[in-house]
Amino acid sequence: MTKLLGVIGDPIAHSLSPIIHNGWYRDLGIGATYEAMQVAEGELPDALSTLAQKGLVGVNITLPHKLAAREISASSSETVERIGAANTLTCKPDGSWRADNTDVPGFTTALTQLLNGQKLSGLKAILLGAGGSARAVIHALGLAGADVICLNRTESKALDLVHEFGSNKSVAGSIYQYTDHADYADVVINTTSAGYSADPLNPGPGNGRLFYDISYGQAANRQLQVASANGWKRADGISMLVAQAAESFEIWFGIRPDIEKAELRCRNALKAIV
Ligand code: ATR
Repeated sequence: MTKLLGVIGDPIAHSLSPIIHNGWYRDLGIGATYEAMQVAEGELPDALSTLAQKGLVGVNITLPHKLAAREISASSSETVERIGAANTLTCKPDGSWRADNTDVPGFTTALTQLLNGQKLSGLKAILLGAGGSARAVIHALGLAGADVICLNRTESKALDLVHEFGSNKSVAGSIYQYTDHADYADVVINTTSAGYSADPLNPGPGNGRLFYDISYGQAANRQLQVASANGWKRADGISMLVAQAAESFEIWFGIRPDIEKAELRCRNALKAIV
């Protein structure tokens, strides 16, 4: 029987996850299908119990359900407990759910790859933003031994985030103090939604350093155009999206899938949309 997996969120129609996972199932001859499932806020428990009855193997979870996913799970990984959010659920034989967070290792894998295998320990990173996505990023950077300066429009949120996740070398501040810190960084990681505004952030002279926006699509491109025009090496969030998907795939099937092939498929799909 064909196994059922998928991604649950709202909105979800433009998710690239079905392209990634179904591509791997085809490549590896796995009898499974991965579907995008739109579920409104508050309706995750009902949706999951219906899907469990249909023999669902596992699901990825995205906005607005990442906190609820953790709450309804009978067991959670250490990372889920630390971050407070889950993006991968696996249905156990007794019908209960196991929660994992693959955003954290996905980010680490993607950043290491973007830095050509360089160790992240001792890396000096400016993290822009202190929202939901920044939590996984700062935790991953901390685990890898990087030094983080977290800058946010609302400074108090950066202070809270660094207090919760930072090492004694971490610093928090206002995004408006960016130029005071810019020379310090080996890499700038953008988790803000500034690219969606008419006025993307100007990161100043890059001199070949990496500006990594963890989102993708038009907003990320707007932000990355400003960065590359200032001499930054640009990278969008497709690599993290695929790396976290690979971690989820490995949890469900015990096999490491081909990341490069999946990235190519995503980029082709994005080109077709634009
Ligand atoms: P996500 O889950 O994608 O992280 P979020 O939790 O809503 O989304 O966080 C959005 C982040 O983008 C926040 O850090 C936000 O700053 P505030 O905490 O001050 O709201 C940041 N952000 C949004 N629009 C921005 C803009 N125009 N300029 C700078 N930062 C912006």
